[in-house]
Amino acid sequence: MSEQALHNKKIVLGVTGSIAAYKSADLVRRLREKGADVRVVMTKAACEFITPLTLQTLSGHPVAIELLDADQEAAMGHIKLARWADWILIAPATADTLARLASGRADDLLTALCSASESPLAIAPAMNNKMWQNEATQNNIRHLRSQSAQILGPASGDQACGEQGEGRLLEPNDIVEALARLVVPAQLQGKHVVITAGPTYEPIDPVRFIGNRSSGKMGFAMAVAAAEAGADVTLISGPVNLPTPTRVSRIDIETAQQMHDEVMAHVQGCDLFIACAAVADFRPQQFERNKIKKTKQEQLQLILTPTLDIVSAVTDGDKRPFVVGFAAETNAVEAYAKDKLKRKKLDMIAANQVGDGVGFAVNENELQVFWEAGSRILPMAPKKQLARDLMTLIIEQYNAKNTT
Ligand code: C5P
Repeated sequence: MSEQALHNKKIVLGVTGSIAAYKSADLVRRLREKGADVRVVMTKAACEFITPLTLQTLSGHPVAIELLDADQEAAMGHIKLARWADWILIAPATADTLARLASGRADDLLTALCSASESPLAIAPAMNNKMWQNEATQNNIRHLRSQSAQILGPASGDQACGEQGEGRLLEPNDIVEALARLVVPAQLQGKHVVITAGPTYEPIDPVRFIGNRSSGKMGFAMAVAAAEAGADVTLISGPVNLPTPTRVSRIDIETAQQMHDEVMAHVQGCDLFIACAAVADFRPQQFERNKIKKTKQEQLQLILTPTLDIVSAVTDGDKRPFVVGFAAETNAVEAYAKDKLKRKKLDMIAANQVGDGVGFAVNENELQVFWEAGSRILPMAPKKQLARDLMTLIIEQYNAKNTT
């Protein structure tokens, strides 16, 4: 576990009505020992198992319970808490809480907060083993996972109801360790990160273009991960259908040339450049001012000319930043990635297999990451989590390079 991962992280801890709620007291202490700033939100049922005063004393802040309480909303209302949180951790989470989260309910403070927040969500379930195995619960878990919620545990063993089986809340130390593995350490404070994302569109005529299947999801997830790590992020994006992440400044472009020009204008003095975009390698040599008409001829020839290689333009510059490239390959992933690492003078390259429904325009991915002295495989995960794992690795290598 990265010792620093939870340092200065703002964590909303949601406590719901399970007998395991008594473990939340220890959990608050363990999180604070790692340097996290913890605000506790309890459901009314949780207050039957552990008092708000206990969690208030241990967290050092008032505990929020009511959605419709003018005093609590005035102190730190649900929208403010939703924006404040770097992570929301629900431990213990009952079967009912899972069902309510999965169906998008927002009729108590905790569920309203979750639905209003863009922050990542980690959930540590706790319930009787039959309730855990219940098909409805398992469907809810699958649904929450598909929305990028991280499910921590549950553990197996003795249960408070006298039964044995899967459904116990993970021990507080294990929850803290699991969370620390998911969180990007806040080590990019004061650093400027420039990221490219999405496809480029190279116009043929006013209505047609050459594009590609990149959705921009990985680049946008990298921008979120960099912002989570405290960086100032400039995201230069091709045409995509994605909302701008909070705390990220976004510049929209269409063509490779425009992306090149914006990158060169923003990369000066930046600390990290992450080239996620699927930039067109060729563009039509000529742009037809009027729409090309269908004619009797059987073939239409387009003459294509190479675009500028943006990432190489950055690595060829003076005072270059730490540069990370991506390689999407249909075959021989490792060989092509290593060749690109050298040829484009990158510090790191993250490679993945694409084609046949893998890689592009999907939510899950797997990466092989290479740098001069090593490599690592980041296993299949939702792109948001994969981006956090990759950002943690980038920070490690960036720090190693800048301290030697
Ligand atoms: O050569 P290839 O396109 O496979 O290399 C991929 C890497 O190079 C990616 O990081 C991509 O963003 C970057 N690239 C670029 N400008 C181009 C082509 C690729 O920055 N014109």
